[in-house]
Amino acid sequence: MKLPRNNLCHSECSCQKNLSILRRVSVHFHVEFSPYSLRWFNKSRLKSSVMATLFLGLFIFLLHPVVVPSRPALDLHRVLPSHALRYLLQNNLSSRPIFRPTVFPNGTIQRLPHTIIIGVRKGGTRALLEMLNLHPEVRAAESEIHFFDWEGNYEKGLQWYSRQMPLSYPHQTTVEKTPAYFTSHKVPERIYHMNQTIRLLLILRDPTERVISDYTQVLFNRMQKHKPFQSVEQLLIRDGQINVDYKAINRSLYYIHMQNWLKYFPLSQIHIVDGDKLIRDPFPEMEKVEKFLRLSPRINRSNFYFNKTKGFYCLRDGGRERCLHESKGRTHPQVDSAVLDKLHGFFNEPNRKFFHLLGRTFDWH
Ligand SMILES: *[C@@H]1O[C@H](CO)[C@@H](O)[C@H](O)[C@H]1NC(C)=O
Ligand SMILES: *[C@@H]1O[C@H](CO)[C@@H](O)[C@H](O)[C@H]1NC(C)=O
Ligand SMILES: *[C@@H]1O[C@H](CO)[C@@H](O)[C@H](O)[C@H]1NC(C)=O
Ligand SMILES: *[C@@H]1O[C@H](CO)[C@@H](O)[C@H](O)[C@H]1NC(C)=O
Ligand SMILES: *[C@@H]1O[C@H](CO)[C@@H](O)[C@H](O)[C@H]1NC(C)=O
Ligand SMILES: *[C@@H]1O[C@H](CO)[C@@H](O)[C@H](O)[C@H]1NC(C)=O
Repeated sequence: MKLPRNNLCHSECSCQKNLSILRRVSVHFHVEFSPYSLRWFNKSRLKSSVMATLFLGLFIFLLHPVVVPSRPALDLHRVLPSHALRYLLQNNLSSRPIFRPTVFPNGTIQRLPHTIIIGVRKGGTRALLEMLNLHPEVRAAESEIHFFDWEGNYEKGLQWYSRQMPLSYPHQTTVEKTPAYFTSHKVPERIYHMNQTIRLLLILRDPTERVISDYTQVLFNRMQKHKPFQSVEQLLIRDGQINVDYKAINRSLYYIHMQNWLKYFPLSQIHIVDGDKLIRDPFPEMEKVEKFLRLSPRINRSNFYFNKTKGFYCLRDGGRERCLHESKGRTHPQVDSAVLDKLHGFFNEPNRKFFHLLGRTFDWH
């Protein structure tokens, strides 16, 4: 395995040189510490300062290669014990910028999120964030930050990212949500490099429902901008088959994306919220989220009330009552039932694979 910059020696040859210096030092030691010279040495007042010099030299020798970056790549397996190699790899010291949270005089802090809602698009991420925000010890970023999935933002670094976070007190938990993270290939590795022990939240719905909802959102945007649009059937079906090149279909192939996350995080760090259940009855799902995030149980049933006109739960925060934005819970277009059946059939196998990955099933078609 090759690692840039972090090498313990300038190059292989200077490494050899260092080793030979070490050998010479030990030979020197041997001569100096013959019985006679040792007796002299013991008496000598120089003893401590000579020892100190030797230790300092050894210390500098050990430290020196880490401090000075080098150009040629080196096979680290040959010069480093495996635990040290693992540490270097996991912490990616060469690329990790020095990060400091911003502390304000009034005791509030801006720091990296403790948890991230990673998706899925149209899964109910906004509802989940708003409900989590009912908890007095949670502070949520208002907008979707797109730090890990947009190159332009990622290049600005962790310090920039932390400055997008809400102000919080030390005992509070900060959260951001960007639904596109779940299906972006580079994101799991990048989050891993920020914090390997972070706890992630993923909210999912029936993949077929999600596709239609995804389509509906795009449809509304296009209609608002007076742009032409295709019917959902035109997009879903190509040559009589489900069109796997349609992005909305791919986003619902949960197992493909999940496999990518599981390369970096154990399942125990990814809590999956059942989005269909959260809409029907929010409280039990939110109780599980509180437990997963190790928050004190502060969200209760009276935080939610059903609005009959809307057909959805709204939130009660102290005295304040509010419902999610009008764009949430739009009615879907009527989809040809034969196409819908085809879609249900199509997702059967991917869903089965996903359940197998999780060791858990969902109440999907
Ligand atoms: C270290 O981080 C850089 C930039 O973030 C990345 O390109 C590289 O692949 C990482 N290296 C390892 C060994 O993880
Ligand atoms: C704390 O200080 C920051 C930065 O000056 C300010 O934006 C924030 O409103 C203050 N918060 C409180 C609770 O006073
Ligand atoms: C990483 O995430 C865990 C879990 O939220 C948190 O306890 C820890 O403080 C985080 N570490 C850093 C460096 O932010
Ligand atoms: C779906 O998207 C993933 C990630 O972007 C990609 O690797 C995969 O090939 C796509 N699958 C299909 C069937 O298009
Ligand atoms: C539920 O939480 C609210 C604060 O959000 C609190 O005012 C109320 O007393 C709690 N109700 C119960 C039954 O604990
Ligand atoms: C219920 O929803 C309707 C329609 O969106 C809204 O006008 C009304 O204010 C809501 N009522 C309550 C109590 O939230």
